[in-house]
Amino acid sequence: MATTLITNGTVVSATGRAQADVLIDGERITAVLEPGSVLLGTDVAASVDTVIDAAGKYVIPGGIDAHTHMQLPFGGTEASDTFETGTRAAAWGGTTSIVDFAVQTYGQKIQDGLAAWHEKAAGNCAIDYGFHQIVGDVNDESLLAMRGLVDEGISSFKLFMAYPGVFYSDDAQILKAMQLSRDTGMLTMMHAENGPAIDVLAAQLVEQRKTDPFYHGKARAWEMEEEATHRAIMLAKLTGAPLYIVHVSAKQAVEQVAWARDKGQNVFAETCPQYLYLSLEEQLGAVSEKWGAFEGAKWVCSTPLRSREEGHQDAMWQSLRTNDVQMVSTDHCPFCMKDQKELGLGDFRKIPNGIGSIEHRMDLMYQGVVTGEITLERWVELTSTTPARMFGLYGQKGVIQPGADADIVVYDPNGHTSIGMPVDESGKPTGRTHHMNMDHSAWEGYEIDGHVDTVISRGKVVVDDNQYLGAKGDGRFLKRGLSQYLI
Ligand code: URP
Ligand code: ZN
Ligand code: ZN
Ligand code: ZN
Repeated sequence: MATTLITNGTVVSATGRAQADVLIDGERITAVLEPGSVLLGTDVAASVDTVIDAAGKYVIPGGIDAHTHMQLPFGGTEASDTFETGTRAAAWGGTTSIVDFAVQTYGQKIQDGLAAWHEKAAGNCAIDYGFHQIVGDVNDESLLAMRGLVDEGISSFKLFMAYPGVFYSDDAQILKAMQLSRDTGMLTMMHAENGPAIDVLAAQLVEQRKTDPFYHGKARAWEMEEEATHRAIMLAKLTGAPLYIVHVSAKQAVEQVAWARDKGQNVFAETCPQYLYLSLEEQLGAVSEKWGAFEGAKWVCSTPLRSREEGHQDAMWQSLRTNDVQMVSTDHCPFCMKDQKELGLGDFRKIPNGIGSIEHRMDLMYQGVVTGEITLERWVELTSTTPARMFGLYGQKGVIQPGADADIVVYDPNGHTSIGMPVDESGKPTGRTHHMNMDHSAWEGYEIDGHVDTVISRGKVVVDDNQYLGAKGDGRFLKRGLSQYLI
């Protein structure tokens, strides 16, 4: 078994930082040591196969992105990253585990949906992966099947208050699923937007010929997110279910989460980089020479990007400091403009929903450290430690300590990362600046003060010095336990 020593670095955890060396034996961390304790000339030093010099750099637990959608069939097409391309891009960006959403579609058996997801992922992933279960059809049969999921290592399920006719659950279905959540300890994850009301508003806008991507944001008003978040919280209170609100973007929705938490309810929330940085006006309202007002389609996702004038982005950063929102995932759901987003030319309702960010989450959140929005420790907590705890992986993942999987990133605060896909004068891309399977970047032009230097996944160096050294099939399925935030 190969041994690796990461030396001279600053090891950062959710609770502090220290100069320390990290010793890896095979797939696990075996020791966190005083700097220089593995002295050259000693027996231990002689047996170290690889020494990584992390002088001037941060040594952090590998990122955990707990909200991704590889190969998701959606809006008449399929998310453009496969498990192979998406997890490779994740590794490039310092993420060493994902939790993707297995899908039960309407009329399908849960077991069949889950088996199909295992088939897509098995042998294809660059990094370790787990699943949540999307339940698109809550009925007696699926409720019974859901009881078996914990034994399969799937300790959370997602319901949708949005997308009528696709994944939507009504309040009666939500209530029943939440009763199961209470009984089993599974975490209920909720897409909290009032879908039926949104669909009426969207249809009315299209009737008025307001068909551009900008109106996607207008139709999905924050009131519909606030209302649904409140409804989910009250149903969770009534049933005693633990609740996790996904992709929160409205400041009023955060207020609901904070209110419930202040009352002692087990309510948690994530936000995503797009809701911290991007806006309705600048992105959904963007106009380009190539696409005209359809340019905004690149940023069509749900919940939508919110108005900067209304202060949602500032409120999101604040919620990360106050712990009203506990973690940051990407909701990685990439679609190309060509043949995919294009489906919605002339009708924003037909634009497949989703943004690709899996490669940039660690960098984008590190930017929050650079600008003083969050501390270095909070960066690690939001991107790795809390996701591990929230979804039953902590100890194995999310921490640098003896016994944990050797999932480690050496991050260079003095390095630089340019994001985007620059184009030449004729509009042709000049080269790859990302590894996601997308023909554009939602983060075009972002300049990051920081750089993912080395990425180690279960002891194997998969990215080093701008080179990819991993392979498809390196990643294993993660059987997760119950959320470690619940007693
Ligand atoms: O726009 C989004 N978020 N697409 C993925 C599906 C979902 O609702 O998470
Ligand atoms: Zn969602
Ligand atoms: Zn999602
Ligand atoms: Zn570097």
